[in-house]
Amino acid sequence: MAQIKAFRIRESDKKTTSGFEDIDPAELDNGEVLIRVAYSSINYKDALAATGAGKIIRRFPCVGGIDLAGSVIESSDARFKSGDPVIATSYDMGVAHDGGYAEVARIPADWIVPLPQGMSAFESMALGTAGYTAALGIQRMELNGLSPANGPVIVTGATGGVGSLAIDLLAGRGYKVTALTGKPSEGAYLRALGAAEILDRKTLDLGKIRALEKPQWAGAVDNLGGAFLSWLASSMQVSGTIASIGLAAGMDFKTTVAPFILRGVCLLGIDSGYTPMPLRREVWRRLATDLRPRHLAEMTRTIAFDDLPGAFGAFLDGQVRGRTVVRIGG
Ligand SMILES: NC(=O)c1ccc[n+]([C@@H]2O[C@H](COP(=O)([O-])OP(=O)(O)OC[C@H]3O[C@@H](n4cnc5c(N)ncnc54)[C@H](OP(=O)(O)O)[C@@H]3O)[C@@H](O)[C@H]2O)c1
Repeated sequence: MAQIKAFRIRESDKKTTSGFEDIDPAELDNGEVLIRVAYSSINYKDALAATGAGKIIRRFPCVGGIDLAGSVIESSDARFKSGDPVIATSYDMGVAHDGGYAEVARIPADWIVPLPQGMSAFESMALGTAGYTAALGIQRMELNGLSPANGPVIVTGATGGVGSLAIDLLAGRGYKVTALTGKPSEGAYLRALGAAEILDRKTLDLGKIRALEKPQWAGAVDNLGGAFLSWLASSMQVSGTIASIGLAAGMDFKTTVAPFILRGVCLLGIDSGYTPMPLRREVWRRLATDLRPRHLAEMTRTIAFDDLPGAFGAFLDGQVRGRTVVRIGG
C-alpha cells in the first residue's frame, strides 16, 4: 500500500511536537482491521494530546485522534469484512495506539462498532466521543432513577461538545435543562439546543461552598470538575444524580459526605474509554434511534484535514462551540 498522510505526535527533550508526516501503513500499530478513514473529530482530549497541554500520550510517536469513522479495507477478524462501515472511539486510540488522524488506521477488532443503521459516517463523528459520552451519562443517570418529573438538570461546560450534546439529548427527552456556561453571549445557541435557562458561571461564588447548599438540581452532567463539581454535589436535590464526565476546570474535587448521606446524592463516574462492548453498541444504537440528537447539524462545523493543527488552541482556551468534524477521506 502507498504511503499515507498522518498527524503524528512526538516527544523530544520532554517537549511535545506534532505535525503531518507521510508514513508507510506497515508502521501503524497492530490490529486485525485496516480502515480507510472518512472522518475524525476533535475532542478536548485530542487538544491535550496534540499540544502536550495534558500529559496523556502514553507512547511516542503516536498518530493522534481518539475518534474515527470509515470503511473496512481488510480484516483478519471474521466479525468485519471489506467495505463494512465502522466507528472506532476511545480505548487507547490517539494516546497509546495510532488513532484516527490518518488516511488509514489499523485497529483491534474488539474496539470497533459497526456503524448503526440510520446513522451516516459523518453523523457518527459529529457525535464522536463527546456524543457517546453524553448519551452514556444520560443512560446511567436514568438507570439510577432520573426522570423529567424529578426536577431540573444542569449541564456544565454547556457550549462544549459534550455539553451541547447533553443539552440536546436531555431536552429531547423532556428534561428542563439549565446550561452553565462561561459564554453567556451564546445564550441563543444554547436555547436553540433546548436549554430552558442560562447560568453565567461567573455569577457563582465558588470561594466558600457549604456542605449543603440550596437544593436545586435533580440531575447534573458535569464536564468541569474542580470547584464546579464541589458546588454541584452540595446543590443537588434529595436523590439527585450527578454524571461526572470532565475536568476542563480541574482534577481536584473537594466535598463532604453530607450530600451523600443526608440527601442520598448519587455520583456516577462516566468513562467512555473502556465501556464494555455490549453497552457501547447499545449506546450507539440508541444515538441512531431514541437518543438521536435533534440539532446535530447546528452544533457541528467541518474542517479540512490540513486545518487540524490550527484548531486545537481554541479547545484549550475554552473557546469552542459544539462539535468539530475533521474531513479526512470523506
Ligand atoms: N469521561 C469521559 O470518558 C470523557 C469523554 C469525553 C470528554 N470528557 C471530558 O469532558 C470535558 C468536556 O469535553 P468536550 O470534548 O466537550 O470539551 P470541549 O468541547 O472543549 O468543551 C469544554 C467546555 O468546558 C468549558 N470550559 C473550558 N475550559 C474551562 C475552564 N478552564 N473553566 C471552566 N469551564 C471551562 C467551556 O464551555 P462554556 O464556556 O460553555 O462553559 C468549553 O467549551 C473534558 O474535560 C473532557 O476531557 C470525558
